[in-house]
Amino acid sequence: MSFFSNLFTKKEEGSVLGIDIGSSAIKIVQLKRKNGQAVLETYGELALGPYAGATVGQATVLPPDKIATALKDLMKEKEVNITTKKCGISIPFASSLLSVIEIPQVSSKQLETMVPLEARKYIPVPISEVMLDWSVIPKTEVKMEDKPEGEQPQTTLPKIDVMIVAIHKDTIARYNSVVTGAGLDASFFEIEIFSTMRAVLDEALAPVMIMDFGAASTKLYIVERGVIKASHTVNRGSQDITQTLSKSLTLPLDKAETMKRSVGLVGTDQKFTDVIVLTLDYIFAEANRALLSFEKKFNKTVSKVILVGGGAALKGLSDLAKNNFNTETVAGNPFGKVATPAFLEKVLNETGPEFAVAIGIALRELQESE
Ligand SMILES: Nc1ncnc2c1ncn2[C@@H]1O[C@H](COP(=O)(O)OP(=O)(O)OP(=O)(O)O)[C@@H](O)[C@H]1O
Ligand SMILES: [Mg+2]
Repeated sequence: MSFFSNLFTKKEEGSVLGIDIGSSAIKIVQLKRKNGQAVLETYGELALGPYAGATVGQATVLPPDKIATALKDLMKEKEVNITTKKCGISIPFASSLLSVIEIPQVSSKQLETMVPLEARKYIPVPISEVMLDWSVIPKTEVKMEDKPEGEQPQTTLPKIDVMIVAIHKDTIARYNSVVTGAGLDASFFEIEIFSTMRAVLDEALAPVMIMDFGAASTKLYIVERGVIKASHTVNRGSQDITQTLSKSLTLPLDKAETMKRSVGLVGTDQKFTDVIVLTLDYIFAEANRALLSFEKKFNKTVSKVILVGGGAALKGLSDLAKNNFNTETVAGNPFGKVATPAFLEKVLNETGPEFAVAIGIALRELQESE
């Protein structure tokens, strides 16, 4: 009977895009809501190297018009077949300033004036040049840390922690011109780590480390209950593996890149494996240092390491990572948060870590368009 179906069936909303403009590649996913569930409609990726006279897999620095051109090229690819312009776009972590500041507990009205004033102390550019956003960190979270056990309860005005996020207006302007150039309809920009968190974290309360293997760098974040407690960027990424392979084995860069992807760490040529491990050892050593220094500082254990980014798609990487960390290590599975066709399961498992940011963005766009 139509009365009941009208009552219980939610109106189906249109499709939305999540767009991740990485230094080496653009990743895009199109989702739609069906029966209350996020459903994958299509996804795709485009290497930016060739737009900058570099090879696939290498990091680039491109002006907005070139990025817009690449985005348009990706969206009109036949196999990708993007059918909407409604999107959210990620902003690189490096373009953001993030701090946690402590301020007295005041009304939310007073916060509006107090946070920007306090934020000035932490932001190295004039406050008028940035877009500021913040969120109050839940109380329980604040009290548990930094305080040795048995410390007396506070008697003065209680303080709260506020996470502030600033993005330079020039950055916003650049992204706006990409949006215009590509003919998109963007409803928000989000710093990539928040997108990744939405895509790969569950409700776990204990701190986890997210490791994003990009092309030029590897970004490390230690996250607890939605708050970024520590971050660190290692100046090595997956392009360094390709470059070292190319030099050590005298292979052209593009050949080294293809072999890196097809053979990875599971080949029979020991020299090939050793060369890859050289870069990875450097990255893992630094990641371990960051992890241990967090554990020491906060007297807490990191419960899990989650690997994301294209570099994490390297065959055999998970096993190497597991041996390196003294804690559970898993590859992020962002496609696990959306309904996908069964026949794609294997390929989505392999390529999943790469799409963490794009999926996270699309999930938010879906939520906001409800
Ligand atoms: N299957 C694969 N095996 C090994 N490496 C891969 C694979 N797929 C992609 N990569 C590597 O991953 C890197 C790109 O990862 P990703 O797309 O996450 O980076 P990005 O988002 O462009 O970089 P960043 O986030 O640092 O700006 C490239 O260097 C590429 O060679
Ligand atoms: Mg990236």
